[in-house]
Amino acid sequence: MHAELESLTTEALALVAAASDQAALDQARIDLLGKKGRLTALSAGMRTVPPGEKAAVGAKLNEARTVISEALEARQRGLTAAADAAAVAGVDVTLPGRPQWQGSLHPLAQMQDRAVDILRRMGFALADGPEVETEWHCFDALNTPADHPARNEQDTFYFESGHLLRTHTSSVQVRTMEKADPPVRIIAPGSAFRRDEIDSTHLSAFTQLEGLYVAPDVSLADLKGTLEQFFQALLGPKTRTRFRPHFFPFTEPSYEVDVELHLTGQPTRWVEIAGCGMVDPAVFTALCAKRGDRVYDPDTITGFAFGMGLERLAMILWGIPDIRLLIENDARFLRQFA
Ligand code: PHE
Repeated sequence: MHAELESLTTEALALVAAASDQAALDQARIDLLGKKGRLTALSAGMRTVPPGEKAAVGAKLNEARTVISEALEARQRGLTAAADAAAVAGVDVTLPGRPQWQGSLHPLAQMQDRAVDILRRMGFALADGPEVETEWHCFDALNTPADHPARNEQDTFYFESGHLLRTHTSSVQVRTMEKADPPVRIIAPGSAFRRDEIDSTHLSAFTQLEGLYVAPDVSLADLKGTLEQFFQALLGPKTRTRFRPHFFPFTEPSYEVDVELHLTGQPTRWVEIAGCGMVDPAVFTALCAKRGDRVYDPDTITGFAFGMGLERLAMILWGIPDIRLLIENDARFLRQFA
């Protein structure tokens, strides 16, 4: 029994040492210590050992089991460590990580946020209206006659239903005054659509910001002061503003607004940036008829309105040379505004 135990232990240690992978080691464990394993078989021989030797042989058996178990465990640790090392072999943990791209607001959204922010501080509340409009809200209510060129099918997208894609956000003026009584002081940023050929300064879908202030005694001075303040807050405190007489069907008098640009590395120049004017009495008259009351009686109510293109404002503020950059979503362009 002694000799058998000794040689089994020697063989077992050799077997364990030779187990070069997990499968071989598992097999060795079963062959040695399993229910039908060799050590188990030897233990069965205890029955034939004379009583006087049982204790000594038993101790030897236990010793052999411990030695073999420890060898198996040590080999297992070795195999596990080797597998772990293989898993990360070829990985250079000192390489810098790949930076994750971070999203940011589109420059047009940033422009809109800034404009809205300034005007809200001046007391304007946000309003909006549908992009698919009726002819009445987009044109008739805004004193724009049926034969006005803006209503032409060459300029405006019409649906078969007679609805259209609003050509300006001025329709929100009408939508607001239909529902709300004066005083009304709102801004309405949103999309507008025109059948324009797309080029470096035109898009067929673009963004405007409308403003409207209606109360009993609103003056032209209020309009000028509001826009001067606005452009100085947006473009810098030295920004000068110029009002040139113009025509819009829904304001009288009407103006185009230019701002004086001081861009580094460029000569100072005036750029046209907005349309505005005093709300035409004909607009109030149409509203009275629609509402069936005299709350917007043109004899007692006054107002100013303005509208500006946000893409154009963004191009001016950041020196963007081509309006199409704002719709192409080229990350190389957008990343500059992150
Ligand atoms: N709606 C005009 C346009 O799109 C701009 C404007 C708005 C003019 C409000 C006067 C008053 O050109």
